[in-house]
Amino acid sequence: MSSLHLEAKVGEIAETVLLPGDPLRAKYVAENFLEDAVCYNNVRGMLGFTGTYKGKRVSIQGSGMGMGSAAIYINELISTYKVKNLIRVGTCGAIQKKLTVGEVILAMSASGDSGSNMVLFNGMHYAATADFDLLQKAYQVAQDLNIKTHQGSIFSTNMFYDDDPQRWDIWEQHGILGVEMETQILFTIAKKLGAKALSVLTVSDNIRTGASASAKDREQSYMDMMKIALSLA
Ligand code: HPA
Repeated sequence: MSSLHLEAKVGEIAETVLLPGDPLRAKYVAENFLEDAVCYNNVRGMLGFTGTYKGKRVSIQGSGMGMGSAAIYINELISTYKVKNLIRVGTCGAIQKKLTVGEVILAMSASGDSGSNMVLFNGMHYAATADFDLLQKAYQVAQDLNIKTHQGSIFSTNMFYDDDPQRWDIWEQHGILGVEMETQILFTIAKKLGAKALSVLTVSDNIRTGASASAKDREQSYMDMMKIALSLA
């Protein structure tokens, strides 16, 4: 048996799945961090791999960009493949001046502008939160590896391009650390379907200061984020 958008057989996907937006990132991580990695999905080019990291079985699955795409894979991973831990690994644009590009954020909660969330909750607002066990474990791993992290709230938007420069002011005032495009729906669906979820993000740019990561910074911070996420398997 497989699902609509994933051609893996049940059993071919590990209990812990990392979710980068970019399927080629999934391939890169599988080839460079995992042992015995096997590709289990090619449907729509949304590559997914299962292998081992330090002896533990783990999968890494591209989610695509935005909550519409990510929701499809999250639903199918939990419903069909019985995935227990889903960890987004991705980038965000910081909206607090204090955040430097390359730093890592462990998202405690995710606000957002998704219409589907408003429909789902009849126009009311659900506070989407990370799983505490995964959050605590990730924090401990980061401490052990001497990686600085920020813990706090982030915002998931369905619009990467928007014309209003003041759009983030109110969110900055309310302590939101950064903006990305998938975490809110990840936390929401995982909670509903009984799985654990976390989002580990690196700051790729700062919307307030205009700073943007160099290729070298991006690579280092990506390594830090991956080491934290892979250690949760
Ligand atoms: N907006 C949304 N998603 C992002 C951004 C951004 O500025 N930077 C990285 N992911």
